[in-house]
Amino acid sequence: MYASLKPMSLKCAVQLNIPEIIYNHGKPITLPDLVSTLKVPLAKSSLVKRLMRFLAHIGIFAIHGKGEDDHDQTYALTPASKLLSKSCSKDHCLTPMVLMCTDPIFMSLFHQLGDLIHGEVPNLSEGALGVTLWEFLEEKPAYSSLFNEAMASNSQMVSLALKNCSEVFEGIESIVDVGGGNGTTAKIICEAFPKVKCLVFDVPHVVANSSCESQNVSYVGGDIFKSIPKADAIMLKVAYILPLS
Ligand SMILES: C[S@@+](CC[C@H](N)C(=O)[O-])C[C@H]1O[C@@H](n2cnc3c(N)ncnc32)[C@H](O)[C@@H]1O
Repeated sequence: MYASLKPMSLKCAVQLNIPEIIYNHGKPITLPDLVSTLKVPLAKSSLVKRLMRFLAHIGIFAIHGKGEDDHDQTYALTPASKLLSKSCSKDHCLTPMVLMCTDPIFMSLFHQLGDLIHGEVPNLSEGALGVTLWEFLEEKPAYSSLFNEAMASNSQMVSLALKNCSEVFEGIESIVDVGGGNGTTAKIICEAFPKVKCLVFDVPHVVANSSCESQNVSYVGGDIFKSIPKADAIMLKVAYILPLS
C-alpha cells in the first residue's frame, strides 16, 4: 500500500538535488551539513533525516557511522544515487527518468488499470487523458520535452550494455530504430559501430525536434502502423510492457 512512498521520496531527493550535493561535498555528509546546504529551516531537519533514512533503507543512500548524535552519522552515495548526480555519472544521469516517471500526469495513467481490465478504456492513456499518450505529447511541447529527455537519459544506458554485445551488430549495415525518440540510442550505436547507419523512425513532431551530428544517423517521420522503412535490422526499444497508449 505504501510502495508509492519510494518513488515519491526519490523524486523529492532529486528535486532537492541531494545526490549532487553529496557528490559536490566530496565525502559522505552529516545531516547538519546537508540541512545547511539545502538552506531549509532547522525546524525541518527531522524531515530531512527521515527522508534520508528511508532512502538509505531502500538502497538509494548509505549511512556511515553509528550513534544518536547527527554529527556521528554521514550519508553517502550508493551505485543507485550516483546515477542521479549529473557531475558524478556524466552521460548516465537518470534524473529526467525519475522526474517523468513520478510526474502526476504520467502517474494518472496507472489509475486506469482496473478500467483497462474491464475493457472500459482502450488503453491507460485514453482512460486518463482522453487521447493517446502520443497525441497528448504532440499537444504539450513542455511535457513532450520532459518525456523525450527521460527516454534519452534511459537510452544512455545502452552505451554500457553495448560494451559486451558487439556480436549482435556483426554483418549489419543498416538499422531502423522504430519509435527511436530523439535518436540517443541510434547515436550511441553509430559511435560504437562506425560501419552501421541508423535511421530513427518516430512520429513527425518528435523527428522535427531532433537532430544529431553523426552522419550515420538520419531521421524519418511517420507512423509505424502504416509502414516502416527497410533496413538490415529493426530495433524496438521500449520502457514499458503495459498498454500505455
Ligand atoms: C517509450 S518511447 C521509446 C523511445 C526510445 N525507443 C527509447 O527507448 O528511448 C516510444 C516512442 O515511440 C514513438 N511512437 C509512438 N507511436 C508511434 C507511431 N505510431 N509511429 C512512430 N513512432 C511512434 C513515440 O513518439 C516515442 O518516441
